[in-house]
Amino acid sequence: MKILVTGCAGFIGSHLTDRLLEEGFDVVGVDDFNDYYDPKIKEQNLQSAKKNRQFKLCRKDVLDFTSLEEIFKKEKPAKVVHLAARAGVRASIENPLLYAKVNVAGTVHLLKLSVDFGIKQFIFGSSSSIYGNTKRIPFSEDDICDSVISPYGASKRSAEFFVESFWKNYHLKSIILRFFTVYGPRGRPDMAPALFTKAILNKEELTQFGNGSSSRDYTYVDDIVNGIIKTLEQDLDFEIINLGNNNSIALRDLIKAIEKVMGKKAKINEVPMQQGDVEKTWANINKAKYILGWQPGVKFVDGMKKTSEYFCQF
Ligand SMILES: NC(=O)c1ccc[n+]([C@@H]2O[C@H](COP(=O)([O-])OP(=O)(O)OC[C@H]3O[C@@H](n4cnc5c(N)ncnc54)[C@H](O)[C@@H]3O)[C@@H](O)[C@H]2O)c1
Repeated sequence: MKILVTGCAGFIGSHLTDRLLEEGFDVVGVDDFNDYYDPKIKEQNLQSAKKNRQFKLCRKDVLDFTSLEEIFKKEKPAKVVHLAARAGVRASIENPLLYAKVNVAGTVHLLKLSVDFGIKQFIFGSSSSIYGNTKRIPFSEDDICDSVISPYGASKRSAEFFVESFWKNYHLKSIILRFFTVYGPRGRPDMAPALFTKAILNKEELTQFGNGSSSRDYTYVDDIVNGIIKTLEQDLDFEIINLGNNNSIALRDLIKAIEKVMGKKAKINEVPMQQGDVEKTWANINKAKYILGWQPGVKFVDGMKKTSEYFCQF
């Protein structure tokens, strides 16, 4: 089976691509290698995939509808996993228009072509950010989600609505997977695990936003990839499913965990909480267990060890 993966050169996309190739799928990857972070990292992420004859790389922007149409026409993928996006809460506050274009219009391009070319299943990589500062904890898929605070969260929630409307109007079978703070090797350089590891390694001050009590449901990338693979194995009509760890870790405990695996103390510079950041994320994962037979398998300390080891290489 041929799977089209958008955002294939990114953190999650490259891990998914490697795993799909390992499992014998053909993969058509779409990525524009933009400079939100160093594109050399994205090239490096695909180093092994690029050697595989079952992998076809298309260096295209999801906003370029004509080029995407050519790809669908030529490659005839059976299923689509749409991960290409502008990720990151803080940058979305600086450039909300770009986030709306790529994350909303880009998603609608993929949806439209999926309908036109008879795609069997559309999987959308959404985010815990759509829950915003909801009071219902842990976050459940049936939450009304009216507490979004960042433009990034708003763009992802808007895209979710388009996914649902394409299922309702064009019967495009679609699954929305809401990922919770994904970490692991190749992790995005703008996220805390990468920033903190590098600061500790270089004996520099790390910036802690808030007093350390804010918390995130860190989910190891291999678990996220397992969840996507399990979804690809199903023939579901439409579902929204959280993929999280069901274990919210305070920022101060993240720092302690990284200090422990690195055997070094952090120098902490505490600054006020950032605009757009939520206080807590925490996933209810009963639906993933029940529908996908999925649950996270990687313990936080083990995952963080592999993550720090990866970042210490550079
Ligand atoms: N990492 C997380 O913690 C997390 C959490 C929740 C949701 N997500 C979602 O998962 C997906 C992947 O995130 P990631 O952390 O791997 O980010 P990433 O930035 O590493 O990967 C995204 C990839 O998409 C590509 N891309 C961006 N705009 C594009 C465009 N216009 N055309 C083509 N390609 C484009 C980028 O070049 C990049 O390689 C995103 O949709 C993100 O919103 C990530």
